[in-house]
Amino acid sequence: MILLTGATGTVGSALLRRLTAAGAPVRCLVRDPRRLGDQRVRVQIALGDLANPPSFRHALRGVDTVVHLAASIRDQPLASIEELNAMATLRLVRAAERRGARRFVFFSAMGATHHSRTRFFRAKALAREAVESSSLETTIFSPSIVYAPGDPWLTLLERFSYLPAIPISGSGRALYQPIWAEDVADCVVAAMAAGGARRRSFELAGPDTLSYDDVVRTAMRPTGRRRPLVHVPLPAVRRSLQLLRRLLGQKVFATWDEAELMEEPMTTRRGTADAERLGVRPLAMASVLGGT
Ligand SMILES: NC(=O)c1ccc[n+]([C@@H]2O[C@H](COP(=O)([O-])OP(=O)(O)OC[C@H]3O[C@@H](n4cnc5c(N)ncnc54)[C@H](OP(=O)(O)O)[C@@H]3O)[C@@H](O)[C@H]2O)c1
Repeated sequence: MILLTGATGTVGSALLRRLTAAGAPVRCLVRDPRRLGDQRVRVQIALGDLANPPSFRHALRGVDTVVHLAASIRDQPLASIEELNAMATLRLVRAAERRGARRFVFFSAMGATHHSRTRFFRAKALAREAVESSSLETTIFSPSIVYAPGDPWLTLLERFSYLPAIPISGSGRALYQPIWAEDVADCVVAAMAAGGARRRSFELAGPDTLSYDDVVRTAMRPTGRRRPLVHVPLPAVRRSLQLLRRLLGQKVFATWDEAELMEEPMTTRRGTADAERLGVRPLAMASVLGGT
């Protein structure tokens, strides 16, 4: 049995389709099973929440492999970014050890260290250490920006394209190697099938290195609307998003913690080598999204 967390997310939904199509037994730890769509009848469901560690115990019964994708780049009502990403991963790893699981597959973020500027990256670095220190077989993926047509981030950019200019937080100069969620899911399936060393890690990058501005321009192209990019200084972004958060709560379209991620470069000198080692040739963002 595979326990999949984050099955309703960008990577998780692409991975879940592959696993169920191959007939793999999957249990999804979810907050709201309706968000699984058609897939909910093909899997076992364990109601759970990263903010509720006791929910992990039941979810882990009879599980051989945990694929832990669930994560959050914003604080939630029941837990902070640190609790949702670092503490929850540590608790899930320990619970998986106690329940006799064999393997733990985890998603960190490319370049995440203890000294990263964002809370999310620092939490991912701690989570990674928790996974690496486990007695289980571990596979760790560190992707650059992951996208899929229709995902919440591209949807937000599409909405921005109706404005006369696109607001960009900060300099827009941080570099990324965007990788399509379908290519990421292929990498996970290949790594799970291959087995191998007790400790494995892969950096997942697409073929192009783009500044955040270039990523936005590429994402805008399919809309057919060309708009100038306007760079908003970080202190102004911070003040306005913190104010909006106080006014709108969870419904706010972006938080300061999310905006700050656009200043975290996510590139690797290895380029697509790790994906190719898994037999996957990641597509360029421009060819996935199309547009002229
Ligand atoms: N996307 C990127 O650019 C990127 C870059 C680097 C690393 N990563 C990492 O790659 C992994 C997959 O990313 P993704 O883009 O697929 O993530 P995503 O689309 O943001 O999905 C997040 C998933 O986590 C679940 N989740 C959030 N809070 C939860 C909670 N409190 N309890 C239980 N589940 C919760 C969400 O479920 P709900 O349906 O309940 O909201 C959703 O299924 C994540 O670990 C992410 O940090 C992503």
